[in-house]
Amino acid sequence: MTVHFIGAGPGAADLLTLRGRDLIAASQVCLYAGSLVPEGVLAHCPPGARIVNTAPLSLDEIIAEIATAHAEGHDIARLHSGDLSVWSAMGEQLRRLRALGIPYDVTPGVPSFAAAAAALGAELTLPGLAQSVVLTRTGGRASPMPEGEELVNFAKTGATLAIHLSIHVLPRVVADLTPHYGADCPIAVVYRATWPDERIIRATLATIEAAIGEGIDRTALILIGKTLGAEKFSESRLYAGDYDRRYRPVGTAPRFPEDT
Ligand SMILES: C[S@@+](CC[C@H](N)C(=O)[O-])C[C@H]1O[C@@H](n2cnc3c(N)ncnc32)[C@H](O)[C@@H]1O
Repeated sequence: MTVHFIGAGPGAADLLTLRGRDLIAASQVCLYAGSLVPEGVLAHCPPGARIVNTAPLSLDEIIAEIATAHAEGHDIARLHSGDLSVWSAMGEQLRRLRALGIPYDVTPGVPSFAAAAAALGAELTLPGLAQSVVLTRTGGRASPMPEGEELVNFAKTGATLAIHLSIHVLPRVVADLTPHYGADCPIAVVYRATWPDERIIRATLATIEAAIGEGIDRTALILIGKTLGAEKFSESRLYAGDYDRRYRPVGTAPRFPEDT
């Protein structure tokens, strides 16, 4: 029997992969990580499934749930919000399962930074403005930042930053970023992207604190960089009419003649 780790997506129930849906439907046990996993995703569990919210459980207790289900011969759907590759606490669970000899697989999900960018209608990598996106956070009580990963160090690159788990320290984020991006740099906060109560606040570094108002203190993503709302940027060379490429040879001596 297998533990299926499944990215449950950012919130909207229909932003679950078909593979994730089918694995949930085929698993007699479902462990899900708290309120960020929507009920619409849990609705795919088969009738009579054991469904456990792991938010109040310790790692030991979660692994005990898995070990019991495994011993009973059940497949397990293990759901975390967004994608599992960032801030899911999947790594420590996989290490325990390897030690116990319990098989697992991993199905990706839509990460919240992608859902937030979609809500903004934003491409985060625009030619000449930014070609990198940094998925990061500020340090918390349970998760200090490793040396060198302070926000100011990423800010020095000018890349688009997708800052997670940090809306409660927005003033500190603004103070750290302003010297590098400038007070007029666009910034957006997307609260609960794809949920029915989604909110989008667009501002600049100078105005975001006043713009955000009350009530947004968790489950929000901060996106910052010159790409947000930009109209002045180069067009991609890849699609330029005179750009000779493998799938669209141009001129009398194309670079990839064997594919023509
Ligand atoms: C523990 S992390 C989980 C990240 C998740 N694994 C992912 O792929 O996005 C939780 C943080 O992700 C961000 N987040 C998760 N879901 C979100 C959503 N629907 N809208 C905005 N931000 C979200 C927030 O910054 C939140 O504090």
